[in-house]
Amino acid sequence: MTRPRRRRPPAAAPSRPRASRARQRQRLIDACISALHVHGPSKTTVEKVVAIARMSPGIVRFYFDSKDAMLVASLEFLAAEFEERLLVPIAALRSRPVEALATLVDLYLGVELASTRKVSVWYAFWGEASARQEYHDICGSRDDKFEELVRDLIARLIEETGARHLDADAIALGLIGVLEMLWQGFAFQTESTIDRGEAKRRALAYLRSVFPGAFGLAPGAAPAALPAGAYASAPLLEAERRALFRHAWQFAGLGRELGAAGAFLMLDGPGERALVVRDAAGALNALRNSCHQRPHALAMSRSGTFGGLICCPLHGLSYHLDGTPAGATPGAALARLELALAGELVFVRAPADDAAPPPAPDAAPGAAAVPLAAPVVREHEVAADWKVLVERWLERAAGGAEPRGSGPEGAAADAAGGWSARRYAALGAQAGAAPPRASFVAPNQLIEAGAGGVVVLQVLPVAPGRARLREFVYGRESRTRIDRALAFLAARLEARRLAAEVGLAESVQRGLESPGYVAEAVADAPPALVAFRQSIARLLPGGARDPGDPP
Ligand code: FES
Repeated sequence: MTRPRRRRPPAAAPSRPRASRARQRQRLIDACISALHVHGPSKTTVEKVVAIARMSPGIVRFYFDSKDAMLVASLEFLAAEFEERLLVPIAALRSRPVEALATLVDLYLGVELASTRKVSVWYAFWGEASARQEYHDICGSRDDKFEELVRDLIARLIEETGARHLDADAIALGLIGVLEMLWQGFAFQTESTIDRGEAKRRALAYLRSVFPGAFGLAPGAAPAALPAGAYASAPLLEAERRALFRHAWQFAGLGRELGAAGAFLMLDGPGERALVVRDAAGALNALRNSCHQRPHALAMSRSGTFGGLICCPLHGLSYHLDGTPAGATPGAALARLELALAGELVFVRAPADDAAPPPAPDAAPGAAAVPLAAPVVREHEVAADWKVLVERWLERAAGGAEPRGSGPEGAAADAAGGWSARRYAALGAQAGAAPPRASFVAPNQLIEAGAGGVVVLQVLPVAPGRARLREFVYGRESRTRIDRALAFLAARLEARRLAAEVGLAESVQRGLESPGYVAEAVADAPPALVAFRQSIARLLPGGARDPGDPP
């Protein structure tokens, strides 16, 4: 006879009684916090707590030896919550002090930690702290950890901004004082009357006044300058990619480069890998340069011509020139992008759901009127943040149509018998060409049209403090001697100018990274530069937002 097999007990499940006990204990602690909020520690009684918790008085003794033990447990709960929800996450951000301090303000004044109920309980215990050692230990330990964290973050920020004249201890004390004052204000209000947004703005205003520019801008304020850290910040770069580049118009080439059916232009852009293809009907199609099956680029060179189909060599899928699937086993179509023409200039961007998409870009005045030859496309690695180059362009574009390199340097070059911008401008005038004009296509492109042709500069962020400068040079078609001279001079001038531009940007970046640098206001900054800095400042941790800005 076989003995019946004993069933194995099921795998260990959370013990129900234990979970239920934990819930009951927490219910008592919550009720105790509510009672402390209304009555204060000395007038809080077990009866008042169990009345709020709707539990029997006897049950309190099951969890706590005395009323004092229950009060201490409530305070320990608040201290543990403060540690878990504020001290731990902020300590993890120590290496990014601006972000850490902005988040600290947000959490410290948020409803989770600073509800009127919890704030008044902390104050009630502080009142008792001198009389009872355990309260003193719990409150004191929380305060010490908080002070140490704030002091460390301020010291790191002083190091980062180079503002070494500041006293970390004094600044930290000031911030803690500001936060305490705002908490005290909460303690005397109801949840419906507390303006937490205003409280956070006031705390950030304190930090902004000590570290100008590091915490974004006050609402409506014009940006004086961006903080040095904004030119080498990984989190900011990530935010810039998301907010500024993902759906921005990017220059791909000229329409005339897409002459026949199958001709394509490829753009490895900051937000999208794009392909512009002319189809058999003569229409231009902007497509994602990525096979549907795997994210594999369908065109690797900047320009070229497809045969009748766009073929992917990896697994043999093919697409018609408008991106629709072709072949015996067609898959899905290639993703379509948006396309805009500014004269002959072709721009593409990833589609977005935004209600108000950015307007299609304008070409530089005169860019379309000049007969242009095939482009020379070059790329330069730049040891500077992309914004350094853009700020320089915006300053220059605001300078109007002044010939590049004019002034004493141009005159000196003339005297030495060499080439010069002055000579270039004179030749252009002789040929009846307009002086150079520039237009900026946000966030990262400058288009310049002059007597020698059209130059498009496109700067791409590579890493914090590093960029790639892409240069499209469309020389004027050489028909006459003067045209050829202009094209030659323009090419030489452009090469020298670019080298100077890159050198200048790298020098500025080194200056920004030097410990002694302090961001200073620029008087009479061009409006376009102000608007650009404003758009970046909004992305800084704690950056101010105007009403109506996207979240
Ligand atoms: S990745 Fe293109 S066909 Fe497979």
